[in-house]
Amino acid sequence: VAQDNVFKIGLILPMTGQQATTGRQIEAAARLYMAQNGDTVAGKKVQLIIKDDTSLPDVTRRLAQELVVNEKVNVLAGMGITPSAMATAPLATQSKTPLVVMAAATSSITEASPYVVRTSFTLPQVSVALADWAPKNGIKKVVTLVSDYGPGIDAEKFFNQRLTFNGGQVTEALRVPLRNPDFAPFLQKVRDAKPDALFVFVPSGAGAAVMKQFLERGMDKAGIKLIGTGDVTDDDQLNDMGDGALGVVTSHHYSAAHPSPMNKKFVEAFEKANKGLRPNFMAVGGYDGMRVIYEALKTTKGAGGGDALLAAMKGQIFESPRGKVFIDAQTRDIVQDVYLRKVERVNGQLYNVEFDVIKDVKDPGKTK
Ligand code: DHB
Repeated sequence: VAQDNVFKIGLILPMTGQQATTGRQIEAAARLYMAQNGDTVAGKKVQLIIKDDTSLPDVTRRLAQELVVNEKVNVLAGMGITPSAMATAPLATQSKTPLVVMAAATSSITEASPYVVRTSFTLPQVSVALADWAPKNGIKKVVTLVSDYGPGIDAEKFFNQRLTFNGGQVTEALRVPLRNPDFAPFLQKVRDAKPDALFVFVPSGAGAAVMKQFLERGMDKAGIKLIGTGDVTDDDQLNDMGDGALGVVTSHHYSAAHPSPMNKKFVEAFEKANKGLRPNFMAVGGYDGMRVIYEALKTTKGAGGGDALLAAMKGQIFESPRGKVFIDAQTRDIVQDVYLRKVERVNGQLYNVEFDVIKDVKDPGKTK
């Protein structure tokens, strides 16, 4: 295939290290999307180039530079954590390359470059619904526990603001390091403080450790409820968390149990292609990110220029496995439904079962 007939997507993900499940989920989803939709779009042969940044932002930036300069990729994509997306954003601007953020979820990422388009979610977007639900369900005093970086600070701030507005109170705000966190001393503090609930944000892959230590300390039996954004009851790990996870209420944009025909097909195809691995919210961000790229290329009739592609990404409206979504043309961020879910056993497996929905939620974190 002649080089000018190739359309290159540089997909940078954490394939090893603490965030490796994010890379595994997004790679599998991108490959599924291509298997279902073919690798020829508007006459171009789509080539996926996957690079492992081990979730170190300096590595992300170096790999992005190499992909733009040497490989001449048409689009950059992936971005497993916020620091990776922030490190790459200036390069997207300088090189006029669309950067499709499929995982990272700090509100301000879309403001770091006009070339960023996001298909994941934002922490403010999903945190507010839980702060509306909690006080109506007997939860007034809450301790928050978040990973000490962008998305955690967003979650802490927006949950606290809304809970306070609703007459509740955050009695203590705890932050744990992103790298190799030890939850034990923090959980002991929470146990002693005895709030009605502990609100948790930890990134995908860390939820099982929080759940295990929460249960080992008997905090549920002490009357402290565990609540959080859906990152903590991550579908990648949930089924192995055991009965202690039953009843945990979270708010998020995607559950593998979302009862739409499209999602049922998506989950079935994903599990079939990946030895039974259940897709999580990272997978859906990757799958939809590929959709946004494919449809942009169709709109430009195969023209691979960054500005034309970016324009064709803005304003896309489509059905995702999570529900109806759209890419806000102004902010380039995703607008989507946010669900309240409760962990239940369904056909012998643990799932986040949706019981309420807030439609068409925009990121409340945008400053402009
Ligand atoms: C981010 C990473 C995650 O794994 C997650 O679940 C949410 C946010 C981030 O770094 O932005």
